[in-house]
Amino acid sequence: MKLGVIGAGNMGRAIISGILASGLVTKADIIASNATQASRDLTAKLGVATTADNSEVARADNVILAVKPQRLAAVIREIAPVVSTQTLVISVAAGQPISAIEALFGKPVQVVRAMPNTPALVREGMTALCANSLVSRESFAWVQALFATCGRVEEIPEGLMGAAGTVSGASPAWVYMLIEAMADGAVRDGMPRAQAYKFAAQAVMGAAKMVLESGMHPGALKDQVTSPAGTTIEAVKVLEEHGFRGAVIDAMAACTAKNDRMAEKAAEAQESAAAAEREEEDAGTLSHILRAFKGGDKN
Ligand SMILES: NC(=O)c1ccc[n+]([C@@H]2O[C@H](COP(=O)([O-])OP(=O)(O)OC[C@H]3O[C@@H](n4cnc5c(N)ncnc54)[C@H](OP(=O)(O)O)[C@@H]3O)[C@@H](O)[C@H]2O)c1
Repeated sequence: MKLGVIGAGNMGRAIISGILASGLVTKADIIASNATQASRDLTAKLGVATTADNSEVARADNVILAVKPQRLAAVIREIAPVVSTQTLVISVAAGQPISAIEALFGKPVQVVRAMPNTPALVREGMTALCANSLVSRESFAWVQALFATCGRVEEIPEGLMGAAGTVSGASPAWVYMLIEAMADGAVRDGMPRAQAYKFAAQAVMGAAKMVLESGMHPGALKDQVTSPAGTTIEAVKVLEEHGFRGAVIDAMAACTAKNDRMAEKAAEAQESAAAAEREEEDAGTLSHILRAFKGGDKN
């Protein structure tokens, strides 16, 4: 089973690393592309074949599209001629609906839409998946296994892809900000900086594991740490005064709204491309009629 990765940047390389560490697909069965030689050199360090030719990558049985969303249309147009109904296309592009991807191919194609995150690099990723009706349950299970090599995987309805993109795709950014802020607090209390990052990051990872493994409500876990008239509740009070939870929720709403705008733009582009195609077809039919009419006149 050959795997192709078009656009092996941060996300593409994170996925390749997870897959290789698990042994699900061997180095010899992976081919990846980047736009520049410098990036291809970086990808080659993973031990996989690299190329600048996306069509060569698209000849694989499974093809992951990991270019930036704004490059997706051009890449799909480039590879469409070599992608067949047997090819399983997996797109990780944020805000690009399955319908837009199908329209860009212009023919029936098996499409899985994935929303992974960069912790895939350390095999602690979170990937949301959904697929079109052409993807068999067996193929979908294979994609689940593929992303499970990089962490946890959940199947969700496509309508929740924007939410998943925010809560797991983008959220590592503000979790890093939280870790940085926590470390600054520890430095202020006199801890050396390198040690402060370690303490803050391990506390965040441990708390996350408590939520995932205890099955307890995060609020109940918080209550366990906040003893009456203790020190922790003082910090909780200050965070509430600064609107901590509201700020996180508002930030996430902004992120999802941007995703929705990107999806709308993709749908508009898809609609105008379809309209241009219809116009071209109509013009073709009209000139055909005119030619036939003129031909008829001569006879
Ligand atoms: N990063 C995240 O946390 C995250 C999370 C969820 C989903 N995603 C999705 O993952 C995708 C990639 O994001 P990223 O952060 O990995 O971006 P990135 O690091 O910029 O990677 C994109 C890669 O695409 C390559 N590329 C650009 N044009 C190409 C072309 N025509 N043919 C082949 N390769 C081309 C680039 O090559 P060069 O380096 O040579 O220019 C680059 O290596 C995006 O669609 C994003 O929405 C990302």
